[in-house]
Amino acid sequence: MAFQLEIVADQREMGQRAADIVCAVLQANPDAAISLPTGSTPLGMFNILIDRSRSEAVDLSKFQLFCLDEYVGVSADDPNTLTAWLMRTFIVPAGIPIDHVHTLPVTDPDPDSAARAYEAGIVAAGGLELAVLGLGGNGHIAYNEPGSGADSRTRVLQLTQESVDQAAGYFGGAKVPTMAMTVGVGTLLEADKLVLIVSGEAKQDILKAALHGPMTDQVPASWLQLAGERLTVIADRVAAAGLS
Ligand code: PGA
Repeated sequence: MAFQLEIVADQREMGQRAADIVCAVLQANPDAAISLPTGSTPLGMFNILIDRSRSEAVDLSKFQLFCLDEYVGVSADDPNTLTAWLMRTFIVPAGIPIDHVHTLPVTDPDPDSAARAYEAGIVAAGGLELAVLGLGGNGHIAYNEPGSGADSRTRVLQLTQESVDQAAGYFGGAKVPTMAMTVGVGTLLEADKLVLIVSGEAKQDILKAALHGPMTDQVPASWLQLAGERLTVIADRVAAAGLS
């Protein structure tokens, strides 16, 4: 069965639709394990979830939040970590208990076994009921860069120059890390439900390649086609313009 495509007018509507899906999952199971992305695309969704949490329209106090990726070689107290960004943007304002936030074990001296333990943590939490994902300009999902297979698991990998350049905007002149730990494509494909949110003209071609092109490790998001009807794509009109 094919994925579901929802075309929305703008970032506000995208945020609402994505927030509705998160809330529906939490209504059915307030303890669900959920992954949420970083980046500019999810900002609308985060703001709506924060508002709904404050007005008690949704209970964000029980779910387990599994982070999708983190830089390697950046100290934990650096404000530029993806976790610090998520803390500022969503976790703290939404009032999510800090012990429900699972971060990638990037400082562990044995990253391979720590990554396996992170995956075991997802399984112990009942498996991901929902993974909300952004789409990188080079087709990455989480930080699964081109070359990532459909069966890739949580691991450390080298970032592409394109991703390093994209991250530079957040680092404001500070040295940008070139390695990251990411939840794997195979790990994400095990989620009960996957939502890909995509906005803007710059994503038109890569979205088309991801959804209508061949499944290839050169476009890691193309592996999402394997999720079939478990995948919902929410794209704004501009990003979806190339889809026929
Ligand atoms: P963006 O990032 O939402 O800032 O475009 C998406 C991504 O790189 O995953």
